[in-house]
Amino acid sequence: MSAGEVIKCRAAVSWGANEPLVMEDVEVAPPKAGEVRVKIMATGVCFTDISASRGKILDVHFPVVLGHEAAGIVESVGEGVTTVKEGDHVITLFLPQCKKCRVCKLDDSNTCLEFTSGSQSRQLMADETTRITCKGKQLLQFLGVSSFSEYTVLKEFNLTKINPAAPLDIACLLSCGFPTGYGGSVKTAAVKPDSVCAVWGLGGIGLATVLGCKHRGAKTVIGIDLNDAKREIAAEMGVTDFINPKEVEGPMDKYLNDKFGCVDYTFECIGNMYTVKQSLECAAIGNGVCVLIGVPPQEMELNILPIHFLLGKKLTGELFGSFKGVDEVPLLVEKYLDGKLPLDKFITHRIKLEQVNEGFDMMKEGKCLRTVIKNE
Ligand SMILES: NC(=O)c1ccc[n+]([C@@H]2O[C@H](COP(=O)([O-])OP(=O)(O)OC[C@H]3O[C@@H](n4cnc5c(N)ncnc54)[C@H](O)[C@@H]3O)[C@@H](O)[C@H]2O)c1
Ligand SMILES: [Zn+2]
Ligand SMILES: [Zn+2]
Repeated sequence: MSAGEVIKCRAAVSWGANEPLVMEDVEVAPPKAGEVRVKIMATGVCFTDISASRGKILDVHFPVVLGHEAAGIVESVGEGVTTVKEGDHVITLFLPQCKKCRVCKLDDSNTCLEFTSGSQSRQLMADETTRITCKGKQLLQFLGVSSFSEYTVLKEFNLTKINPAAPLDIACLLSCGFPTGYGGSVKTAAVKPDSVCAVWGLGGIGLATVLGCKHRGAKTVIGIDLNDAKREIAAEMGVTDFINPKEVEGPMDKYLNDKFGCVDYTFECIGNMYTVKQSLECAAIGNGVCVLIGVPPQEMELNILPIHFLLGKKLTGELFGSFKGVDEVPLLVEKYLDGKLPLDKFITHRIKLEQVNEGFDMMKEGKCLRTVIKNE
């Protein structure tokens, strides 16, 4: 029984921007009031971890333990925790649902203010410290999760209890990648049947967006990616027309309009300012909706002509597919168990935590879709 004691375990630590992650012995303190200590069983590698390791997004500081797409088992709980107990299977939530803030009280939004202005936004716990230390130094907790560690401590509202029948090394994808893309088309845009959709970037996020478009009855789903190797998996997920921008002569909006009439919904799943601009330009005059899902580097500003809005186009964006994590992720787990979400198809590689840098390299080189790190 380890409850109440410091746990010594292994974690991949990011000591500085653009440096490889280093496997270290770390100490994970017991959970304080309102916190839960979790044994991380599996965690996916998401491009957001790579951007964070470069120090490019979300005001990331170092040293930090990255990782935010995880599933695990509750090891112990702090005072006052009511929603989970030791032994429960949980999915971690980088986007919390505190159920108390102004946004959590809205029916149709999920951007809990804890994410933007709570201690999580400073990568700290509520007492402005963290629970993971290495060589006497406090390690920051990325997105309130830090799942590139065998154990971590989260706030109670940064996790949700799930059906233990779900294999954790697959269900971990419901912690970020899959809901983010799938919800982009199913919830954020609420794609209408028979529409024409275009998705920029066919990684884990983009392909889940594609699947959502298909589930909503889209007639045409255009998939745009520089990597031709994505062609086959794209078709499997529902892309009807694959386009490599290198092969397009002239402006993309003209090319798409000539070929498909008009594009009702566009989704940017890369995080590149050029493609954000392009995806808005390609959305249909009068009713086009452009959804920003990719996370561009934090210092980037968007430079677009206001005429697009005067012509009736809408630009919106989302985190985590507009899902309210605590309430809705367990329902997605049930959908997966009912055979309605092909999560397995997204997992192309399985590695150990020591191999996390290889997982990063594979993603940078476009050689994988989702790599799942499995702990013993
Ligand atoms: N909004 C959210 O809540 C949220 C959550 C998770 C991830 N993200 C973001 O989503 C984005 C995608 O993440 P991912 O894990 O799917 O990454 P990924 O690297 O697996 O996928 C990106 C894809 O875009 C393609 N690509 C890159 N540049 C391109 C270009 N100029 N034109 C066309 N295609 C191009 C790549 O070949 C790749 O297939 C990242 O920016 C990530 O930070 C957002
Ligand atoms: Zn992610
Ligand atoms: Zn909230």
